[in-house]
Amino acid sequence: MSSRKFNVAVAGATGVVGNQMIACLEERNFPVKSLKLLASSRSLGQKLKFRGESIDVEELTERSFKDMDIALFSAGGGTSEKFAPFAAQDGCVVVDNSSAWRMDPEVPLVVPEVNAHAIEQYKNKGIIANPNCSTIQMVVPLYPLHKKYKIKRVVVSTYQSVSGTGKEAIDELDSQIRGILNFKEFQSKVYPHTIAFNCLPHIDVFLDNGYTKEEMKMVYETRKILEDDSIGVTSTTVRVPVFYGHSESINVETEKKISAAEVKSLLEKMPGVQVVDDPKNNLYPLAIEAAGNDQIFVGRLRDDDSIPNGINMWVVADNIRKGASTNAVQIAEVLANEYL
Ligand code: A2P
Repeated sequence: MSSRKFNVAVAGATGVVGNQMIACLEERNFPVKSLKLLASSRSLGQKLKFRGESIDVEELTERSFKDMDIALFSAGGGTSEKFAPFAAQDGCVVVDNSSAWRMDPEVPLVVPEVNAHAIEQYKNKGIIANPNCSTIQMVVPLYPLHKKYKIKRVVVSTYQSVSGTGKEAIDELDSQIRGILNFKEFQSKVYPHTIAFNCLPHIDVFLDNGYTKEEMKMVYETRKILEDDSIGVTSTTVRVPVFYGHSESINVETEKKISAAEVKSLLEKMPGVQVVDDPKNNLYPLAIEAAGNDQIFVGRLRDDDSIPNGINMWVVADNIRKGASTNAVQIAEVLANEYL
């Protein structure tokens, strides 16, 4: 590890993911020389803590990145699209959590446990994309399966928490639960329907093919990260009234003979994965236990006897940590250690 320290910027610092990015930089002892916190003009006057110090939030502008080495972006797609090129122009490498750059063939899309080698392609545009939260927690357990058995097809259904939508969605679920339990009026502003005590099969916008953008992100991003366009992926993404932690039911069909017992021992060795699979003792991954952790929890491993080679699994992770901020900081760590 080099002893160099870096000037780091966080764009979207006042948001749920941005806040956690700051915490991750601190927790993981990232070699920060200086930290610049950026948000919209609405946040001017706010201060945020890093390593015990209060730092003023500044307005994100085209000139924010002079003398910065690394910028972690989580301020929405439009903001990344507009400002990431200015950062790159100033020699500041961007790790972007939005979907703006993910499918750009020149921009690497990285989950370090799977394709850290792709980080080198940051040289193309000065931008590295952080994948979609649901994709990140799926590709890590899929990776050793693909290497050993060659995945033909994946059928995934998600149970995604409201924190993935941001601060306002957390407040909306909270106020709706209180409203319903207290027989008070409540509103739905962030989601098109009541999210409290409900499940919405609708994440991001609907596309012409009837799928949502979130569902298609899981298809295209999985292929890009696993570097295999032959993998069939079909997805149904559902918002559920959980605050933190995404859960996924994943069915995997492979070319080669696969067994749940073998998969369990493979996943026990996979970095970033923790197997929790003791159903007789009611032990399986749970969103409330995954929240606050950086691991991806896998359980309910079963053979799928309806096809020649298939297994089912239940995968849970903290969408704000491994699904967003931790993954971004892990990318920055590889970048800092190996390339800058
Ligand atoms: P702000 O708090 O000033 O609005 P979340 O996804 O949790 O809602 O957070 C979104 C983050 O992105 C916030 O930090 C928000 O800042 C920031 N953001 C949104 N739009 C812009 C913009 N146009 N310029 C800079 N930051 C933005």
